[in-house]
Amino acid sequence: MVNTKMDLRILSLVLLVALPACVAYNASVGWQTISQNSPLIVANGGTSGLYPDQTLEAYSDAINSTSLPLALLCDLQLTKDNLAVCRTGLNLTTSTTLATVMPNTTTMTTYVVRGASQTGYFSVDFTLAEINQTKAIQPNIARTPGFDGQFALQTPEDSATGISLAGLPGLMLWLNVEYPTFYQQHPGKNSLASYLTTFLKQYKPQYLSATEVGILKLLVPTASRSATRLVLKFLSTDLIEESTNSTYGQILTNLTDIATFAGGILVPKEFIYPTVPLSNGSVSGYGYYSGNPTTLVQDAHNANLEVFVYGFANDIYPSSYNNSFDPVLESLNYVGDSFTVDGIVSDFPSTVAEAIFCYPDGYDNPSTIRAAPTPVRNPLIIAQNGASGDYPGSTLSAYVAAVKGGSDYIECSVQITKDGVPICRDGANLVNTTNVALNPDLFETKFTTYQEMGSGVFSFDLTLEEIRTLRAIIYSPFGVVNVSRDPSLDGKEGILTLDEFLSFAKNNSGVGVYVNVQNAYFVRTVKSLDMVSAVVTSLTTANLTNVGDKVYLASEDSSALAAFQSLIPSVQRVYVTPDTGDVTITTAVLQEIKKYADIVTLDRAFVDPFDSQTSFLLEKTSVVSAAKSLNMTVFYHFLANEFSGLAFDYRADPILKISYLISEYNLDGFITDHPATLYNFLYNNYCWNLLGGQKTVNYAANLSPLFPVSPVPGAPAVAPSPALSVAEPPVSYLVPAGSPLPNSSIAPAPSSNPSSATKLPLNLLTSIVLIFILTLLLN
Ligand SMILES: *[C@@H]1O[C@H](CO)[C@@H](O)[C@H](O)[C@H]1NC(C)=O
Ligand SMILES: *[C@@H]1O[C@H](CO)[C@@H](O)[C@H](O)[C@H]1NC(C)=O
Ligand SMILES: *[C@@H]1O[C@H](CO)[C@@H](O)[C@H](O)[C@H]1NC(C)=O
Ligand SMILES: *[C@@H]1O[C@H](CO)[C@@H](O)[C@H](O)[C@H]1NC(C)=O
Ligand SMILES: *[C@@H]1O[C@H](CO)[C@@H](O)[C@H](O)[C@H]1NC(C)=O
Ligand SMILES: *[C@@H]1O[C@H](CO)[C@@H](O)[C@H](O)[C@H]1NC(C)=O
Ligand SMILES: *[C@@H]1O[C@H](CO)[C@@H](O)[C@H](O)[C@H]1NC(C)=O
Ligand SMILES: *[C@@H]1O[C@H](CO)[C@@H](O)[C@H](O)[C@H]1NC(C)=O
Ligand SMILES: *[C@@H]1O[C@H](CO)[C@@H](O)[C@H](O)[C@H]1NC(C)=O
Ligand SMILES: *[C@@H]1O[C@H](CO)[C@@H](O)[C@H](O)[C@H]1NC(C)=O
Ligand SMILES: *[C@@H]1O[C@H](CO)[C@@H](O)[C@H](O)[C@H]1NC(C)=O
Ligand SMILES: *[C@@H]1O[C@H](CO)[C@@H](O)[C@H](O)[C@H]1NC(C)=O
Repeated sequence: MVNTKMDLRILSLVLLVALPACVAYNASVGWQTISQNSPLIVANGGTSGLYPDQTLEAYSDAINSTSLPLALLCDLQLTKDNLAVCRTGLNLTTSTTLATVMPNTTTMTTYVVRGASQTGYFSVDFTLAEINQTKAIQPNIARTPGFDGQFALQTPEDSATGISLAGLPGLMLWLNVEYPTFYQQHPGKNSLASYLTTFLKQYKPQYLSATEVGILKLLVPTASRSATRLVLKFLSTDLIEESTNSTYGQILTNLTDIATFAGGILVPKEFIYPTVPLSNGSVSGYGYYSGNPTTLVQDAHNANLEVFVYGFANDIYPSSYNNSFDPVLESLNYVGDSFTVDGIVSDFPSTVAEAIFCYPDGYDNPSTIRAAPTPVRNPLIIAQNGASGDYPGSTLSAYVAAVKGGSDYIECSVQITKDGVPICRDGANLVNTTNVALNPDLFETKFTTYQEMGSGVFSFDLTLEEIRTLRAIIYSPFGVVNVSRDPSLDGKEGILTLDEFLSFAKNNSGVGVYVNVQNAYFVRTVKSLDMVSAVVTSLTTANLTNVGDKVYLASEDSSALAAFQSLIPSVQRVYVTPDTGDVTITTAVLQEIKKYADIVTLDRAFVDPFDSQTSFLLEKTSVVSAAKSLNMTVFYHFLANEFSGLAFDYRADPILKISYLISEYNLDGFITDHPATLYNFLYNNYCWNLLGGQKTVNYAANLSPLFPVSPVPGAPAVAPSPALSVAEPPVSYLVPAGSPLPNSSIAPAPSSNPSSATKLPLNLLTSIVLIFILTLLLN
């Protein structure tokens, strides 16, 4: 089965070698690994992030989606008849269908493992033939259970045979022994050494790792005959290594000694980038920061030991905030100028391959991005409320980071205050984006429920003065699934008015603005507030209403767009679709939209929707191509790196999603919470750039084409739903400043607010100071 696929693979390698290769190495010094080859990708049980681990499917997918050199890892467990099976963990019920297959009379057993009593179903109590009746299941509940019970288990012999039949140079077997002392005692005395000696002689695996010194020392003579590299796997530093009765931390202090019996070490990724908890000491449940790298890699290389790193999976949380939830960036931290590890063990090997082979220059340092000319016309990068994935949205730091991160446009989601001042906030409800809940006076008196808006504290019920007392907090769209963004700047920065936002943009080297006017119809009809007049005043004051100004004026209200069209016709208008999949956008709907705007921002629900039951992509949609055939410009809303927002097809890899959207849909721009990730994809991803012929690198090594995502054949289609209704009942926004609205007792006068106007210079000064501080931090 593996070999049919191989032929294709070889073919594609041959074809691709002719292209300029894309490899991360310095031509004059090569790779900074001991072998001077590219770092080894070690697929932890195959693509175990998607398929149940250590099955033919998981292994075959790793080969299909990853470049060579690649090692397939099998976690060894011995059986009652002293044979073996590849499974992770001692307890078979977590990774197999054993519980449903075995007679219900079978009872669990108890063993002492690493000094602790454990009860469960252990492989040493079953023969291989018995275990072979079970099928693999996905032990990780964050991953799809859709393949559970379908795939047969593999033995180390199966894996070795498959790999050798594949005949692919650079495809290797990595056998890991997690419980040496236990298997030296069970099923019988010396079981492990006897099994491994035979296996090494017969199958000559390329790598054998074990968590204990004793077994490795025993195997040195055999391993040298089978050319197997022995690797000592480290567990946490304070844990006792049973064969030496010293801690892993103590063993690590003498690398020279390790080099007498092993060729390498396999360490948790935290051994190289230590974990620094948030300042309040919390790690569990929240993200953390990475400390500066240790010199472990350099030290081990000096002792002639290879360094392999484990613990990589795209869907782990808590994770380091330093990587902006981008698993490619995380891997790149281990492959660089100051040091490069010899191999990375991951549940998502294709992501490691992207990092190693597609980003030879790494990611751009944000402080240098704006200086770089951008020669080709790529899709626009529109930063949603600034770099809101890393900073509280719509704050100065979010906008500064967005500009530095390479955004073409920065977005302000415009809301309005009770006294008619437009402000930038993600949603009119201030509960999730400000610290209003910490202000009992405001919170209790202003908490309201509107049929159209739900419950909360709304900007249009607070005066600007009241809003000035609030501070922004970061909003985590995936907070419901417990993935929270970095809260360290919460409560530190004030709320920006639209005027302040526009001044910031004008002072920042040509960045454009995407002014997204939200709830205009609602506040006009229910609160008698005129957002259209207010926004027109702000844009006019900022002198941003000329043809050629980098301004997009967006709204989900066709009535507001119609009013903008008659008031400031030269500003480009964007119609924003709702962020729900329960309406359909037909060609007729698009024609209706085109009456108000030539540009449409499509929510992801209309472009790459996924099945809410299975979280796999639904069939490809045709809304983008329908809009394109009407000559409309199409923006996508929205990209965010967090794995919890991604369909399983994307392998918890935001880069694969970007790659899929760009190759499948001719999109003109992306609204994103993580603009720097998109920038680096567009301008530093050689695997993708090669297609556009923009960059060439003189590297002679493997190319890792980006894994081509597509909905699985036979994926269900989007359920039929009513057409989106674009037109709104007539409403007049065109009220001269200062005059009361008809039928209105509130009579706001949207205009340039004197208090915000006088505050401008002070705020600009603050901006400059902040930018200066941030520049220092980012450099
Ligand atoms: C890998 O590719 C081969 C050949 O295209 C295919 O038959 C096989 O199903 C693929 N494996 C997986 C897990 O998709
Ligand atoms: C490559 O390495 C050489 C020698 O260390 C160094 O002088 C040169 O700057 C490096 N080139 C790049 C592109 O980093
Ligand atoms: C064991 O019992 C469960 C329910 O108690 C049943 O679903 C399962 O089929 C039984 N397994 C066997 C092998 O009889
Ligand atoms: C093994 O799995 C069984 C069934 O899920 C569970 O009851 C038992 O506690 C587990 N044992 C260990 C040591 O995790
Ligand atoms: C396990 O069962 C499969 C059939 O499901 C068979 O092809 C394979 O040879 C068996 N392996 C072992 C080790 O018994
Ligand atoms: C392991 O070391 C500890 C303290 O270093 C000692 O108390 C204990 O007896 C040792 N155990 C064995 C089995 O040698
Ligand atoms: C480290 O191990 C080497 C080789 O086993 C030994 O010669 C040396 O004394 C050890 N160093 C220390 C500090 O224990
Ligand atoms: C991670 O981010 C924190 C907070 O910004 C910073 O202090 C730390 O230096 C960063 N770590 C690395 C390795 O860059
Ligand atoms: C706040 O965020 C949570 C989690 O995303 C969401 O369920 C809730 O509706 C939001 N509340 C408001 C007022 O937006
Ligand atoms: C630590 O900080 C996070 C983020 O602000 C917060 O959610 C969490 O509750 C805090 N933990 C403790 C123990 O205070
Ligand atoms: C407004 O901007 C335009 C160019 O966009 C410029 O030509 C004009 O001089 C500006 N007007 C003022 C009053 O600054
Ligand atoms: C789109 O633009 C092209 C070229 O400008 C034009 O020929 C075509 O008629 C337009 N199509 C529609 C539907 O407006």
